[in-house]
Amino acid sequence: MNIILLGPPGAGKGTQAARLQANRGMIQLSTGDMLRDAVAKGTPVGVKAKAVMEAGELVSDAIVSALIGERLDASAEQGAIFDGFPRTAHQAEALEMLLDERGRTLDHVIELVVDEEALVERIVGRFTCAVCGTPYHRTLKLTREPGVCDVCGSTEFKQRPDDNEQTVRTRMAEYRAKTAPILPYYEERGLIRRVDGMAPVEQVAAQIDAILDS
Ligand code: AP5
Repeated sequence: MNIILLGPPGAGKGTQAARLQANRGMIQLSTGDMLRDAVAKGTPVGVKAKAVMEAGELVSDAIVSALIGERLDASAEQGAIFDGFPRTAHQAEALEMLLDERGRTLDHVIELVVDEEALVERIVGRFTCAVCGTPYHRTLKLTREPGVCDVCGSTEFKQRPDDNEQTVRTRMAEYRAKTAPILPYYEERGLIRRVDGMAPVEQVAAQIDAILDS
């Protein structure tokens, strides 16, 4: 099974994709994670992407489509969860071609329906352990002991450079202008399934499970 999780920044795509990977063995293909990895390693793609991401704008279609193409075969057996891709009409066409070439099809496009204003707080409040990557949130999920990671005991934490209010608003605007317009493309193909992304994480997960098991 191959699915897309679609929704604005902070809608919960990464949270649900990680859960599906852990519970169902599907492979999470997150272009955001791939790009952050490239930036951290200082690869040529990372050098090009860094400033664009920090401004909250979209990296070029050619770069992200190539990243997905390089990793798609690794999900042939277990199925892919596309997280943060496609984000433009060109990327949607590129994905269709990449899947076609491999004799694979798209089963569902799951739209996380959310209230954008509430998402700003979700995003600007999140941080992760700098050592093991465990996610936290300054109001929704604090460490049990202040300043100490619950999992590995580290006292070092980090926040994404694009998780500040101004950049989040640019990311939202990019979503409305370039990503939301691809919804009708999938609607016409009968692939869109909608879930309430404002429900608690476990309830969102249950809605997604119901779609995948239907
Ligand atoms: P990317 O990494 O894809 O970021 P994003 O789409 O902005 O999404 P986020 O990771 O911020 O949010 P999410 O929906 O995954 O939510 P999460 O589960 O983390 O992209 C970053 C940048 O890379 C882009 O701006 C662009 O520059 C570039 N890029 C990436 N892909 C690209 C592409 N295809 N084309 C061009 N450029 C690209 O949850 C958010 C928070 O909410 C967490 O704290 C979480 O714990 C919490 N939470 C989640 N669900 C719930 C819930 N149901 N209730 C309460 N809290 C919840």
